[in-house]
Amino acid sequence: MIAIGCDHGGIEIKNAVIEYLKEQGIAYNDFGCYSAESVDYPVFAHKVASAVSKGEAEKGIICCGTGIGVSMTANKVKGIRAAVCCDEFCAEMTRRHNDANILCMGGRVIDSDKAVKLADIFLHTEFEGGRHTKRVQMITDIENGNFE
Ligand code: RB5
Repeated sequence: MIAIGCDHGGIEIKNAVIEYLKEQGIAYNDFGCYSAESVDYPVFAHKVASAVSKGEAEKGIICCGTGIGVSMTANKVKGIRAAVCCDEFCAEMTRRHNDANILCMGGRVIDSDKAVKLADIFLHTEFEGGRHTKRVQMITDIENGNFE
């Protein structure tokens, strides 16, 4: 299951990604928001990040105006590696090298077609492991206060 959410700045690209998920038959849970009315992005980023952190969702996608606010919020939640991406290369590499578990995108930065493309890459690219495993573990160690 994919957890997905947005604020008013990201609702248009979130809705496009949801249409893509439906077409692909990929299960998702939409944590809101559900209209273009102004809301506070940390509320929705936290809902998505919590679902991923608890293992209720395998990955998450969060959209705001830039993707930055929701990524800052999500990265405060334990076990979350959220990446802001605005091109195909970063969407691929953050899976292959960082094992990112949340994709963040900005509706004032990229259009709906690009958001769908990045979501498709993000959801279908595997972590490479190997030398990157140690580096991702270092991020976890820092989060847990175990990094010297
Ligand atoms: C909302 O105006 C905007 O600040 C928000 O969508 C996001 O871009 C924050 O990082």
